[in-house]
Amino acid sequence: MEFDSMTICGLVLAVVICIISLLILYARWNYGFLESLGIPVAEPHFIFGSLFSTRFTPIGYRDVDLMKKYGPLFGVYAGRQPKIYVCDPDILRLIMVKDASFFDAKVALDFGDRFLNEMPDYLSNDKWKIVRGFTSPAFSGAKLRIMNYPMKKSLVEWGTRLKSSINTGGGRLEKCALDDLLFDGLTELTLNCMFSIQDNSGKFPRILKNLATPKALEYPNIKAIASSFPILLKFLPPAQLSPEPAQEFLRIIEDLVASRTAPNSPPDVIDLCIEQLKKINTPEFRKAKMTKETILFQAFNFFFSGQDETALLISAMIYHILTSPAELRIEQKLYEEIDRLWEDLEDNGGDNQFPSREKLAQSDFLQANIYEALRLYPFFTAERVCTKSWFCEKYNFTVPKGMTITAPLWAANRNPEQFENADNFDPERFLPGRKENLHTYALSSFGHGPRNCTGKPLAMEVLRVVCAYIFKNFRFHLRPDSQLIFHPDGPWVFIKHEPIYFDVTLRE
Ligand code: HEM
Repeated sequence: MEFDSMTICGLVLAVVICIISLLILYARWNYGFLESLGIPVAEPHFIFGSLFSTRFTPIGYRDVDLMKKYGPLFGVYAGRQPKIYVCDPDILRLIMVKDASFFDAKVALDFGDRFLNEMPDYLSNDKWKIVRGFTSPAFSGAKLRIMNYPMKKSLVEWGTRLKSSINTGGGRLEKCALDDLLFDGLTELTLNCMFSIQDNSGKFPRILKNLATPKALEYPNIKAIASSFPILLKFLPPAQLSPEPAQEFLRIIEDLVASRTAPNSPPDVIDLCIEQLKKINTPEFRKAKMTKETILFQAFNFFFSGQDETALLISAMIYHILTSPAELRIEQKLYEEIDRLWEDLEDNGGDNQFPSREKLAQSDFLQANIYEALRLYPFFTAERVCTKSWFCEKYNFTVPKGMTITAPLWAANRNPEQFENADNFDPERFLPGRKENLHTYALSSFGHGPRNCTGKPLAMEVLRVVCAYIFKNFRFHLRPDSQLIFHPDGPWVFIKHEPIYFDVTLRE
């Protein structure tokens, strides 16, 4: 049988139309589902979901815009995946704390690497429980007290180098990218107080920078389309984090574990790993598929979890302090409190270089500034997956099993029903007398409940110590190019932004 060219063209066209129709059907398969729950839904693109049209807006601001348009609870098609976004603290409390057993999983995420796939957030429940069981105690009050000395030692070394750069620059360090500088100092601090590693060669900050620049970031459009056609991810390099730097750190940790003959005094994260590695053949660890990588990854997680975010928080805080209306006197009030903290160090149990931990924990104005920066610039999201269908009384709908609940943290922390003038930097809202009026779950920067941030106590301690030190020793000055500019896309949870420049001088 012979076909003329018209027939062949017709057949090809029919096949093409068929394929396109199937692709459209596939991408739109879940459309209508969120609407059927009776909640507001962020309008989806014809095939690329609700977030495609705003893919060039920084994620945090995009979520704030969505909350302002659709309210504190709404549905979103992230590509083809339906999700419920929650900015209402009553519902966050129920989902993350009171009824957490209905939401005791996080969204599965494949990092395309065996080691990175041991990230605690995404482990199976059995494995996560074991991991959480041995990582949480690493941040107890007693452990933080032990970490306090190496933390301050690293900080003073970093500060001494900064002072010398200021002196070399004739008393003023111009165009200092404070976020980058802090990132390096915080990495040294983390290594010293958790791993007993003293290194300021720049090797470890480089590992972290490489980790956070996966190749797929170079293809933002394909990444956006891949949320509707996940098969495309198979053809992209790893999108979340680069595996090679993680492997490099793994080898460093393996060497440290192998070369340690006796426990360190005081015990550090390497000792913690050695202790857990001894259990690798126990029935409990075998049943949960705990491997050497699972344990060593937790050390890696401690190494990289805080620096980028903490450096951003402090730099953004300084930017806001310097750009706040003069009548608020934020800078003056802060420096006055800082100077009071340093008075009578011997009498308050300080170590002559720093105020005591207890005194720092009572620094109301400094902490109010820290909380306000945490409110405005947290990581983007905390997520839970519904594992048993759950009725939401307040909004009168049932969350079906399998549904992803997203707490878009920038938006939740800017909920206008909870925070007056929510977009403004106003540390006074966290001062005694006003902070008591806030909903307990209005500030969600560390997540809530059993799956919240394990490292919160350390992160807060570092923020207090570092801020107290830098405000005691340095003064920051706005420049014409001081700015907070966020990028639309970033690796995993990291918040990609432009360098945050200031001029820096010494206070004395
Ligand atoms: C200012 C700094 C930090 C912020 C804002 C932050 C925030 C968060 C958030 C929002 C989560 C998800 C919580 C949830 O889903 O409810 C999280 C998880 C986690 N964070 Fe942090 N974090 C910080 C620093 C740290 C540090 C310094 C460490 C450890 C050294 C750490 C370790 C962890 C771990 C292990 C998890 C996973 C917890 C789990 O799934 O059980 N974080 N963090």
